[in-house]
Amino acid sequence: MVSDSPPSPSIVILAAGLGKRMFSTLPKVLIPVCGRPMLFQILDRISEVSPRSRVAMVVGHQKDLVIERIREQGYPFPVSFVEQAEQKGTGHAVKCAMDAEWGKVAVDRKETVLVLPGDLPLMTPELLREMLEPLKRGTAMRVLTAVLSDPFGYGRIVRKGKKGGLLRIVEEKDATPREKLIQEVGVSIYSFQAQFLATGVSQLKNQNAQKEYYLTDLVASAVSKKRTIETRIWESPEDVRGVNNPFELSLAAEILNARVVKKHALNGVRFMDLKSCRIDPLVEIERDVIVYPGVVLEGRTRIGSATVVGPNVHLKNMTIGAGCEVKTGTVGEDSKVGDQVKLGPYAHLRPGSEVKNGAKIGNFVELKKSSIGEGSSIAHLSYVGDAEVGARVNIGCGFVTCNYDGREINGSRKHKTVIEDDVFVGSDCQAVAPVTLKRGSFIASGSTITETVEAESLAIARARQVNKPGYAKKLKPKGS
Ligand code: UD1
Ligand code: CA
Repeated sequence: MVSDSPPSPSIVILAAGLGKRMFSTLPKVLIPVCGRPMLFQILDRISEVSPRSRVAMVVGHQKDLVIERIREQGYPFPVSFVEQAEQKGTGHAVKCAMDAEWGKVAVDRKETVLVLPGDLPLMTPELLREMLEPLKRGTAMRVLTAVLSDPFGYGRIVRKGKKGGLLRIVEEKDATPREKLIQEVGVSIYSFQAQFLATGVSQLKNQNAQKEYYLTDLVASAVSKKRTIETRIWESPEDVRGVNNPFELSLAAEILNARVVKKHALNGVRFMDLKSCRIDPLVEIERDVIVYPGVVLEGRTRIGSATVVGPNVHLKNMTIGAGCEVKTGTVGEDSKVGDQVKLGPYAHLRPGSEVKNGAKIGNFVELKKSSIGEGSSIAHLSYVGDAEVGARVNIGCGFVTCNYDGREINGSRKHKTVIEDDVFVGSDCQAVAPVTLKRGSFIASGSTITETVEAESLAIARARQVNKPGYAKKLKPKGS
C-alpha cells in the first residue's frame, strides 16, 4: 500500500567537531548536560516528536565512541552515520551527508531536510515541530534566528534594511565592528529543500577568517540565486543556546535543571528550595513527595509517592518506593529500596543493594551488593557487604561483614554472609565470610562469628569476663 502523506522530514545532525573550547577528552557532543550527553538530548526530542524521520549523523572526532554510545541507546529510528574525516566546517559536514547515499535518497524523494547542530541540549519539542514543517513549494530554506542580549560568538543576521529580508549570515570572526552590534543571530537550525542543499554545499568556498566551509553561507547563496528564504524568529532564546565552553555548559545545565524541577513541581512534588536541587531529565518522581534543599537525583532514579527526601541526599539510578524517609546526607547508587523504608541520616547504599519493605538502614551504615529483608533493621554504624539478610533481622550497632581477605573462593574474592530470617545480632559483632547465621539464631554482643550458627541457637564468640575483686587498686599509682 502506498501512503500519500508526505514523508516525515529527514534530519542531519552535525556531531563531528572536537569542541576544542571545552578542553575535554570527550567529544563535545557526548559531554553530559544534567547527566545526559547533549547529543542524546537532541535524539530524545526527535524520538518524541518525529520518531519516523530518517536521521543522518555526521561524525568525525572519536567517531567510534560516538557511534557506540548512540547504538547502545536503541533509538526507534535508524541513524545513518556519515564520516567527516577532517573537520572543515559546518557546510562541509552537511556536504558529507548529502554526498552519501542518505543524501541522494533525500534529493530523490524531494525531502525537506532539517539541519541541527549537536550542541543544542535545550532545544524544545515545540521548536523541533515548527522546524519540521515541510517547506512551501519554491522555498529553498527556512532559517531560525533569535535575538540575544549578548550575541557574542554567534553568526549575525544581516538584513536588507532594519526589518527587510535576509542577505547573509556573518560569523563572529568575520564580522565588522558594526556587524558585531547586530543582536539577531543564526542558531544553526535550518530546514532545506534537499536539492537546494545538495547543490549549495557543493558550491561553498572557504575564503573566510577560519578557512572553513560555512553552512551559514547558504543564505547569501540563496539570495544570489533569487530563491525564497523563510525566516522565523524564535522568541525564547534559552531554547537555542549553543554549548561551546564549560561556562555555557553550566548555564545550559542550570536552565535545563530549572525546567525539570518545574515539571515535577507542577506534577505534585514539593521542593523546599527550587534552586538548590539537581534533578536529571530522566528521573521520575511520583506525587506528594517532599524534596529538601541540596538534593541531587541522577540517572534513572525513581522516587515513589509520599516519600520524603531529606537535605543533601545524593541518589543515582536508585529506585525508592512509596512512603520512605531518606534522611540527610544519604548516598545511594544502582540499588533498589521498597516501600516504607527508612534510610539515613548518612546511609550509603553502594551498587547492587536491595532494601525491602519496612526495613531500616540507619546512620553511618554502608551496604554493598547486599539484600536486606522486610522489616529488618541495621540502625547504626555498620558495614554489610555481599550479604543476604532475611526478614525481621535485627542487627545492633557496629556490625561488620568481613567479606574480603584476599583469598579466592569459587572464582570470587568477595565472600558471602547469609543471615536468615529472625536472627538477632548484638552490638559490635563481625561475621567472617563465608558464613551463615541460620534462622532465629542469636549472636551475643562482641562476637566474631567464623562458623555456621545453627537455627535458634545462641552463639557467643568472645572471651569470658573475669572479675578480680580489689585488683583495681593495685593497678593505680600509689597515693592516688
Ligand atoms: C555555528 C554557526 C553560527 C551559529 C552557531 C549557533 C557556522 C559556520 N556557524 O557556529 O553561525 O550562530 O553555530 O550555535 O555554521 N561540526 C561538524 N563538522 C565541522 C564543524 C562543526 O560536524 O567541520 C559540528 C560541531 O560538532 C557542532 C556543530 O557542527 O555540533 C556546530 O559547530 P560549532 O563549531 O559549535 O559552530 P559555532 O562556532 O557554534
Ligand atoms: Ca556551537
